[in-house]
Amino acid sequence: MRHFLTTMDWSRGELQALLDDAKRLKAGAVADDLQGRAVALLFFNSSLRTRTSFDIGVRQLGGHAVILEPGKGAWPIGFEPAMVMDGEEEEHIAEVARVLSRYADLIGVRAFPQFVDWQKDRKDHVIRSVAEYASVPVINMETITHPCQELALMLAMQEHMGPVDGKRFVLTWTYHPKPLNTAVANSALLIASKFGMDVTLLCPNEQYLLDERYMAAAREATTEAGRSFEVVHDIESAYRGADMVYAKSWGAIPYFGRWDEEKPMRDAHKHFMVDETKMKLTPSARFSHCLPVRRNVKVSDGVLDSEACIAIDEAENRLHVQKAIMRRLIAQAGS
Ligand code: CP
Repeated sequence: MRHFLTTMDWSRGELQALLDDAKRLKAGAVADDLQGRAVALLFFNSSLRTRTSFDIGVRQLGGHAVILEPGKGAWPIGFEPAMVMDGEEEEHIAEVARVLSRYADLIGVRAFPQFVDWQKDRKDHVIRSVAEYASVPVINMETITHPCQELALMLAMQEHMGPVDGKRFVLTWTYHPKPLNTAVANSALLIASKFGMDVTLLCPNEQYLLDERYMAAAREATTEAGRSFEVVHDIESAYRGADMVYAKSWGAIPYFGRWDEEKPMRDAHKHFMVDETKMKLTPSARFSHCLPVRRNVKVSDGVLDSEACIAIDEAENRLHVQKAIMRRLIAQAGS
């Protein structure tokens, strides 16, 4: 059974087919693939866009969405194999995934890292456990990658820039008062490289490099496509020549679980904020961010409110791409 856990498992052609379907749905095509069906959405973390767009998308496809927040209205769940459940957890994911599979036709999961031990978090243990025990397709609603966001971003870029092959994509780290998840940054590398863009990762220093799994995937995909992948620490040189600037904050992986030690280094790079002066270095690049965004900390008002900013289109596209993903998974599950 095919899940939608990471775009690394899907070819560019398959992802483009999802984007093409999303374009049709966005243009008004009506579909009722979820008529009489249900989708269980497991949220271990907060959300505005993901929760709303999945709930509405399921209803637009004729289905019913059930939103569950384990530990907050639903029982706390344990994940470790062979665990002795004498702590806070009231049930194990083995039962949860099997039971939800009897009620629902799809299961969505949002489960951020625990931010203590990256070697553990990078196994994507929570969603992998759900997929192991479920007998229906599972969709990643953001764990250590954010594949739905990837498709929403790619659709927005194709809408605004046409074919993206050979265009220069700059992923810039930005400051945030908290150490955030690397999921969207990992995903930005995956999708831009898979679709044949020249990719630049701009970050303060080597400590902010992303996990080698995603760095290697970007290197391989760009090499295969005859494109480039570079890491840059100099702001000016990264922005010059950029066709697309994508901003995201993340905590430095070598400091996972030692965030007090990382904080002074993060605080020293507030000047990575995306602003009008930096954007003027580009030949009229587009800008986007997955949202939520802290104004005038990560990105200036001037950039967010400019014509160059396509973040709201990207957010809207979450609805359309997720409907396309659900249609595809339901169709293959029924065949
Ligand atoms: N971009 C995104 O996933 O937004 P939410 O965290 O609000 O769902």
